Order: sequence, then structure tokens, then C-alpha cells
Amino acid sequence: MPQNATPAGGDAAPADTVIAFEGAEKRFPSKEGAPVTALKGLDLSVASGEMVAIVGQTGCGKSTAFNLLLGLYEPTSGRVTVAGCNPYAQFQDLKGRIAVVFQDDRLLPWRTAEQNVALGLEYQGLGKSERLEIARTWLGRLGLEGRESAYPHQLSGGMRQRVGIARCFALNPDIILCDESFSRLDELTAERLRGEFVNLVKDEGKTGVFITHSIEEALSIGDRVVVFRAPGHVAAEFTIPAGLESAELGSYRQRIREAMATAP
Ligand SMILES: Nc1ncnc2c1ncn2[C@@H]1O[C@H](COP(=O)(O)OP(=O)(O)O)[C@@H](O)[C@H]1O
Ligand SMILES: [Mg+2]
Repeated sequence: MPQNATPAGGDAAPADTVIAFEGAEKRFPSKEGAPVTALKGLDLSVASGEMVAIVGQTGCGKSTAFNLLLGLYEPTSGRVTVAGCNPYAQFQDLKGRIAVVFQDDRLLPWRTAEQNVALGLEYQGLGKSERLEIARTWLGRLGLEGRESAYPHQLSGGMRQRVGIARCFALNPDIILCDESFSRLDELTAERLRGEFVNLVKDEGKTGVFITHSIEEALSIGDRVVVFRAPGHVAAEFTIPAGLESAELGSYRQRIREAMATAP
């Protein structure tokens, strides 16, 4: 049995914890000999309905943590739990409960916007008319009414990312994970999409984890901003009150910046 196969609960985790890293460590073998430690002593839990932004410099282990949540590999030691499951060993149990918005839209170029959104629903076994109806509803909510039959190459980068978000919500997952999802968009498009995305996550009562290297993005997305520092561990956490004045926001910005940069 894998080392982290024990379900969460019991000891420290509160009942509404949906994501937990407990002393998670991940080492990768390297050609040079010494393994690369991407995560070390990562402790982090996310409660149901929270929107957590993870921010940190390039190479600090954000994507590695993300990939552990997706069950792409096991931690070298420690434990990772998602919705009470070990995402690596119980990959099947989490199908449909987690959805991801990647940095690139990952749309199938030969499928229209609505066919792309409907794809995951096809895997869930929904009939054609039902899945197209759900797809159209979500494209409408993302402001893409009238573009349902467009192919990805006929859409702007922002629109393609909107299709990716529609595809994610159409699955009706409990948890939405984003890794640098808006970092390839221009600033204004990203800003608009961030706001809409956060509102959707809240309105739908989802739990969200948003990974970014941008302090501004973390501040505008997270109820809580978790600062990672290499090798992948939590250097600091900040709960961000809603409706901050710009001076207070500036103080959080500064504290996050210091936490990201300070030597461990
Ligand atoms: N598959 C891998 N094989 C070897 N090293 C890796 C692999 N994935 C990530 N790393 C290393 O782990 C560290 C953390 O990487 P990553 O999680 O991608 O950071 P971030 O997403 O914060 O930029 C880096 O030093 C990176 O080179
Ligand atoms: Mg990354």
C-alpha cells in the first residue's frame, strides 16, 4: 500500500478539509546524480468553499504540488489527501470531482467551442442533447453566447480560456484547480477574467486552488494567500479581508513580497 494511502480525518484535519498536504515531500531523480527536492515538509490544508491562492517564485514547487493533487505522481514521503482520497492511488474515485484550468487552454482544435465543453460530459455518460445544453449554458455564462460553433482558432486567447473555464464548470466538480491559468493573457483580459472566475467559484460554492507567480493575481483571487518558498514549503499565509482599501492592500502586497523573497 502506498505510504499516503490512509484516508484523511482522524488526527489533525478538521471535518471540512477537502485538500491536505501533510509533511509532503517530493524528490525527482536528476541526471547529475543528486535528486532535486521540489517539495519539502509541505503542510497545507484547504477547507470546503475556500478560494486559496498559492504564490511563489518560479521553481519553488507550485506545479509539483498541483500535480500531486491531480494524482500524477506520489509524494516521496508524507501524505496528500483530496476529498478524503489519496489522489494517486484513488485516481478513479476523484474523477469528475476535480476540474482543472491550465495555463494553455488545451482545447481540441477540431472541435467547436460547445463540443469542447461537452467532451468531459460525454465521458460522464450524458446524452448528446443534455451535454450540449449544459455546454451552451456555461458558454453563455462565460459571455460566449453566439460563439458556440466557433473553432478554437477562430477565438481570441481570452475567449479560448473562457471555453476552458466553461468546460471546467460544466463538469460540476467540487474542486477547481488552476495553474497560472491567466498568465498568458494580456493584463486587461486577465484582470476581467479573474474577477468573473472568482465570482463563479463563489456562486457555485466550489473550492478553488489557484497557483500563480503574480502577487497581484494572488491578492485579487485568494481569500487566503499562501506563500511558497523553495524547496516547496509554506513560508507564510495571509487571510485577505474583503473590500480592502488600497493602503491596506499595499501592506499585504509588501508582506507577501517579503515572504516570497526572504531566505529560509
Ligand atoms: N519532473 C521533474 N523532474 C525533475 N525535476 C523537476 C520535475 N518537475 C519539477 N522539477 C524541479 O522541481 C522544482 C520545482 O518545480 P515546479 O514545481 O515546476 O516549480 P514552479 O511551478 O513553482 O515553478 C524545480 O527545481 C524543478 O526544476
Ligand atoms: Mg509551475
